[in-house]
Amino acid sequence: MPDYDASRLHVVDHPLVQHKLSILRSKDTTIRDFRQLVSELAILECYEALRDLPLEDYGVETPLEVTTGKRLAGKKLAVIPILRAGLGMVDGILTLVPSARVGHIGMYRDEQTNEPVQYYCKLPQQVEERTCLIVDPMLATGGSLTAAIQFLRDAGARDVRCLTLVSSPKGVQTVLDFDKDVQLYTCAVDRRLNDDAYILPGLGDAGDRIFGTL
Ligand code: PRP
Ligand code: URA
Repeated sequence: MPDYDASRLHVVDHPLVQHKLSILRSKDTTIRDFRQLVSELAILECYEALRDLPLEDYGVETPLEVTTGKRLAGKKLAVIPILRAGLGMVDGILTLVPSARVGHIGMYRDEQTNEPVQYYCKLPQQVEERTCLIVDPMLATGGSLTAAIQFLRDAGARDVRCLTLVSSPKGVQTVLDFDKDVQLYTCAVDRRLNDDAYILPGLGDAGDRIFGTL
């Protein structure tokens, strides 16, 4: 049994998500369809991850009368993809939240050690006042995501939510143990990692499949 606080793990298993994720996993899915599916899954997951966003009232004049409308309160959301594969999820999220700010964290896994190597970072201003969504399709050892969370915490971010598409049990445990406040959304928690720290059954190398660098 996992010993993390399971209330911070949100498995988004809507039928549409399960259907699209299964096509995404297939080795026969084309690059074009893979990109499209990553984007669609990001939309569905983001919808779930933002269901508690605060609202404020404001006056709306319909053609007939004045009524009270609702709008998102506070600073614009920040979406922070972990490069490269996280980029594949950004457009989908911006479809739902077009005015979100976008930061970037550049990181790759060293092929020998599987440790994350950071090569770029640019965040929006005032992350401490924004809901921050770190997005990356794959959560394997958790090295990349914990490094990204640490970066955001060091920058002052308080509301940090991570969106992945496929996670390993080890990755989930590592992330939730690492940060006691982070919320983790994923479409599936797979069986395990193989000896090369790839997720089984997984979907292969997400970055290579999105960008056609196989
Ligand atoms: C992949 C993936 C995650 C990371 C997950 O990126 O997109 O960022 O590995 O592995 P971890 O949980 O063990 O850190 P990769 O390093 O292959 O870089 P890429 O996105 O540039 O292909
Ligand atoms: N990164 C990927 O893209 N896929 C995995 O299975 C693990 C890390």
